[in-house]
Amino acid sequence: MTTATPTTAITDIATLVTNDPSLGEGPLGLIRDAAVVIDGDHIAWVGESSRAPATDNRVDAGGRAVIPGFVDSHSHLVFAGDRTEEFNARMSGRPYSAGGIRTTVAATRAASNNVLHANVGRYVAEARRQGTTTVEIKSGYGLTSQDEARALTIAGAHTDEVTFLGAHIVAPEFADDPAGYVELVTGPMLDACAPHARWIDVFCEQGAFDGDQARTILTAGKERGLIPRVHANQLSYGPGVRLAVELGAASADHCTHLTEADVDALAQGETVATLLPGAEFSTRSTYPDARRLLDAGVTVALSPDCNPGSSFTSSMPFCVALAVREMGMTPDEAVWAATAGGARALRRTDVGRVSPGARADLALLDAPSHVHLAYRPGVPLVSAVWHGGTLI
Ligand code: NIG
Ligand code: FE
Repeated sequence: MTTATPTTAITDIATLVTNDPSLGEGPLGLIRDAAVVIDGDHIAWVGESSRAPATDNRVDAGGRAVIPGFVDSHSHLVFAGDRTEEFNARMSGRPYSAGGIRTTVAATRAASNNVLHANVGRYVAEARRQGTTTVEIKSGYGLTSQDEARALTIAGAHTDEVTFLGAHIVAPEFADDPAGYVELVTGPMLDACAPHARWIDVFCEQGAFDGDQARTILTAGKERGLIPRVHANQLSYGPGVRLAVELGAASADHCTHLTEADVDALAQGETVATLLPGAEFSTRSTYPDARRLLDAGVTVALSPDCNPGSSFTSSMPFCVALAVREMGMTPDEAVWAATAGGARALRRTDVGRVSPGARADLALLDAPSHVHLAYRPGVPLVSAVWHGGTLI
């Protein structure tokens, strides 16, 4: 190969997940005894190891598996403090409620920019060590124009996938005037935040925002060029999922309590259902029924939902294992959802696959196949990660 940047071949891959059915077996496009060639920040070639072209460098995978880097389409990483006491109380029987968010809002407002930057950096690095190479990050623990814009600026230093979640809960100062808070979010706060975000999200839930408020906020965001995504049907049945589909949201996230009408809407629309089993694990709640969604033809993504309240994990492998054990997914479906599904939820075509032209985001597993992510729960199987072609 004659190219300007040094090329690297990863050879002797026992199982390569490409997520490109035209390249291999099944929906995961599996290639056995495979090789991948990285050229700069992108993938130049995939195929059988014996046919790999000559390259400048070579990494022998030694009969292990390679998958696309995980695409985490839902995280809340700009925060300070933690909520250990709340978790402890929950594990003694107290239920989770949206109100706990206020504790983190107070800690986050009081934190310096440096502390918040360092926190985001630490959680992104933690996720990366576990194979995550794309991460969306939301605001939502500031809830003033200034604090939300600050959170988005900090998030933007760590990712291109930044989401304005000023409508996480009604800010404490507006406890008696929720309509006034919606006016703030759709007015001055949106003015301050829209330039720093790609997406707009609303927590549509009892104790947060109802369907009408969510519609107003998401519509205002759309008018400013932001694309909606919705925290929908997490703690109770409600209008969130159908609103997400109606507004053409990229994703409806949680989807824990769904009626037939909700499932039908998702099946007919373009909105991805992003399931967040870390939240059910950490709130000791009933898991969403992934099987029902998949059987209805809905596109499913998985994410850890890393946040200090409902799901303080950054681990996609943990979510893959939960999805298989608790939500009726096969290992293949769960790995697809954690990679290609996340890419769909972020409307990205350059990640979530290992095929020529894609970004060279890869995870090498210390296992012969991707199935081990569910088969060997809790074991740190991710042994190397390439991010944009760089081994980290
Ligand atoms: O996705 N549901 C709303 N937001 C987060 C939880 C936030 C918190 O409890 O701090 C979630 O679960
Ligand atoms: Fe969330």
